[in-house]
Amino acid sequence: MRLDHATWREVEAYLKKSDGIIIPVGSTEQHGPMGLIGTDALCAEKIAWEAGKKLNVYVAPTITYTPAHFNMSFPGTISISQELFVSLLQEVVRALEKHGFSKFYFINGHGANLKALKSLTNQFSNISIRVRSWWDYEKVNQLRQAEFGEWEGMHATPSEISITQVTSRTITSDEALNPPKKLSHKYIKEHSGDKHGPPKQHRNNFPDGRVGSHSNLASKTIGKQLIRMATAGLVSDYLTIF
Ligand code: NI
Repeated sequence: MRLDHATWREVEAYLKKSDGIIIPVGSTEQHGPMGLIGTDALCAEKIAWEAGKKLNVYVAPTITYTPAHFNMSFPGTISISQELFVSLLQEVVRALEKHGFSKFYFINGHGANLKALKSLTNQFSNISIRVRSWWDYEKVNQLRQAEFGEWEGMHATPSEISITQVTSRTITSDEALNPPKKLSHKYIKEHSGDKHGPPKQHRNNFPDGRVGSHSNLASKTIGKQLIRMATAGLVSDYLTIF
């Protein structure tokens, strides 16, 4: 159930019996030679829409402008500051809270969003806020490991690209045929949550935009499975929490 496809009368009626909302959060940034600029948003919103239908819960419009400074040397990336992102999240929550929503489920698709999203939970005391990335759900994670292992990597992952092959389109790229350079465990540990270097340095280190991810292992079949499992994960987590 999409909020942007509802009338205010329908939202008014919904709020008489329910007070939950799902908010997908993504990014607008490069995702390697065969990944779409909107990948993180496309993944989060697809899973949110599917879960929203199953739960009869509204899904707010996707938050697509988020911090992705490290990718600013790649054309197409639109990064906003951490401060603006935090303010945006706070104002979106406040607006919805004013109408009577009090259960907020953020489904995230971009590692760099997590810090700001998690900080929300300390800023609002009268409402419930849950933050989950779609790859957090146990079965999703198991499938990623089983299918891609270490080649899942950190950015332009075969998992996220599999999902966008279902939602959007499939791109073939000679540049992505070979695996990228393998990341050390040390690198993965130190850079989790998308803690990457300044834009120029980041592009020098990862010239084609992939960060340890062998995007070309992506497939629509796995994409469909990931969507199904992440949807089930969100639905069950939502029902447990709220
Ligand atoms: Ni991504």
